[in-house]
Amino acid sequence: MAIERTFSIVKPDAVAKNLIGAIYQRFEAAGLKIVAAKMVHLSREQAEGFYAEHSERPFFKALVDFMTSGPVMVQVLEGEDAVRRNREIMGATNPADALAGTLRADYADSIDENAVHGSDAAASAAREIAYFFSDEEICPRTR
Ligand code: PPS
Repeated sequence: MAIERTFSIVKPDAVAKNLIGAIYQRFEAAGLKIVAAKMVHLSREQAEGFYAEHSERPFFKALVDFMTSGPVMVQVLEGEDAVRRNREIMGATNPADALAGTLRADYADSIDENAVHGSDAAASAAREIAYFFSDEEICPRTR
């Protein structure tokens, strides 16, 4: 299986609850390497641009309000089957449906505040990584 990259966000609720380290530990324990990371407090423009594909959905304003309510950690994860593996670690969008042991089952309070974001496909991963990181900010692992 080829090494691929995916994009991840530790959302404002999880940052506020001091869960950055716990969540990073789950990525690393699953064999995903963090090859770029930074803390950002998103502007409305940044959040609206990132979630543009959802702009017609009824929860769009609530989603932008939440994502701009406090700082987030954005990161690039690298590893075998990284997109699928990260989605597995995260669990279902609604924490009520998330499998036990997933990040959302353990750390999310509701579908509105669900702790983490992860790209859903290789194409969206490439777009989302480029939205936040330049090539120079990504450090491929040599060992
Ligand atoms: S997914 O995972 O992309 O298939 O989920 P989807 O249902 O398409 O939701 C897209 C993003 O919108 C968030 N979301 C919501 N926010 C606020 N309120 C409600 N009701 C709601 N439903 C979905 C969901 O967490 C997804 O955000 P990301 O950051 O992509 O996980």
